[in-house]
Amino acid sequence: MHYFHYKNKELSCEEVPLRRIARKVGTPFYLYSYRTLKRHFQAFDSAFAQAPHLICYSVKANSNLAVLRTFFNLGGGADIVSGGELMRALQAGADPQKIVFSGVGKKKEEIKYALDSNILIFNAESSQELITIDSAARKAGKVARIALRVNPDIDPLTHPYITTGLKKNKFGIDIKNSLQQYREARKLKNLEIVGVDCHIGSQLTEIKPFVDALKSIKDLIVQLKKEGVKISFLDLGGGLGITYNEEAPPHPKQYAKALLKELKGLKCTLILEPGRVLTGNAGILVTRVLYTKESEEKNFIVVDAGMNDLIRPSLYGAFQEIVPVKMRSANEIVADVVGPICETGDFLARDRRLPRFRPGELMAVMSSGAYGFVMSSNYNSRTRAAEVMVSGKDFYVVRENESYEDLIRGERIPEFLIHQ
Ligand code: LLP
Repeated sequence: MHYFHYKNKELSCEEVPLRRIARKVGTPFYLYSYRTLKRHFQAFDSAFAQAPHLICYSVKANSNLAVLRTFFNLGGGADIVSGGELMRALQAGADPQKIVFSGVGKKKEEIKYALDSNILIFNAESSQELITIDSAARKAGKVARIALRVNPDIDPLTHPYITTGLKKNKFGIDIKNSLQQYREARKLKNLEIVGVDCHIGSQLTEIKPFVDALKSIKDLIVQLKKEGVKISFLDLGGGLGITYNEEAPPHPKQYAKALLKELKGLKCTLILEPGRVLTGNAGILVTRVLYTKESEEKNFIVVDAGMNDLIRPSLYGAFQEIVPVKMRSANEIVADVVGPICETGDFLARDRRLPRFRPGELMAVMSSGAYGFVMSSNYNSRTRAAEVMVSGKDFYVVRENESYEDLIRGERIPEFLIHQ
């Protein structure tokens, strides 16, 4: 459910026609609906209301400060994977006691920063990382609260690039070795074991893999208890999918019901790290048609957003719906929607049935609120797009379009080259 809809045949976000924003901001731009973000968070949060829980929004999905602040205002925390994400979360007003630090390659400096910020939990992914966290904590005169990210070897039935909970993936500690790892961790004096963590993948459209992962973790928690290790937090990661095309993922209510049923009897606070399900359908990318090329063989619609702005179609072959901002009587063609980048892989859609767009018209790429702007780059020295948030009748530029100066910030031509 989202608040992008046609009003008098014109696409609007909440009460603002997109055309108005395009005129002011230029194209391409990302657009987020505050009301949708809020609704998604509340639907997810309230689904778990019966149990002690903490929603740590996965910052990587969309790390704009205004988006983060929206969730923090609603009581959410943050799942971070870098010092940069920690800085963003703190800047946006996160409560450090609601921050969990995930990721397979945490650097010493990042660990120190997180210790100094007094975050809630480090989700550690290897024995070497545990040693590094312990020694950083000792140096800082602190005790680090940790959970081990276990890898339950469960196939989440999603795209191989976003599968994380299989043995062959780089993430976590094999669940079979995890008890031993916990025993080792107990010996480290500057660590306090507080949780178990797992994240099996992203864009899951079925409940079963989540439940299977939870079942194997439950066994681990029971065994740990027998050995005198109290687990206060059970972090199940993120991964709940959304509808891009025809997928029918479970509603957060069904997802929560299935998990809470399994959790009965375990006295832990449940942590969840949703990303895509909160932001994915709360954002779109708006782009303008530059040229069209029609031939017997193939039709192209060339737009001013490229793979540097939205890489999901190129990288994963992902389908994202494309709609015209101004609805017209249907005169359709099958076309590729391509960007200005000098790569054949630069497309937003392939062989898609679309209205016959004309140069100058605006189009919206739906479901772009997660893994959209955050994965954008400056390839081809293209400035990254602006980000805009709508709330009711108003819109706010929450990140300016980059300038040419931004593109060369920090670059220098060394003296020896200047005098040649
Ligand atoms: N927690 C951890 C430890 C994660 O690695 C991820 C996502 C999440 C939570 C949030 O997962 P979500 O609820 O958003 O599924 N770029 C890809 C998705 C990569 C996901 C990486 N990890 C895409 O565009 O589909």
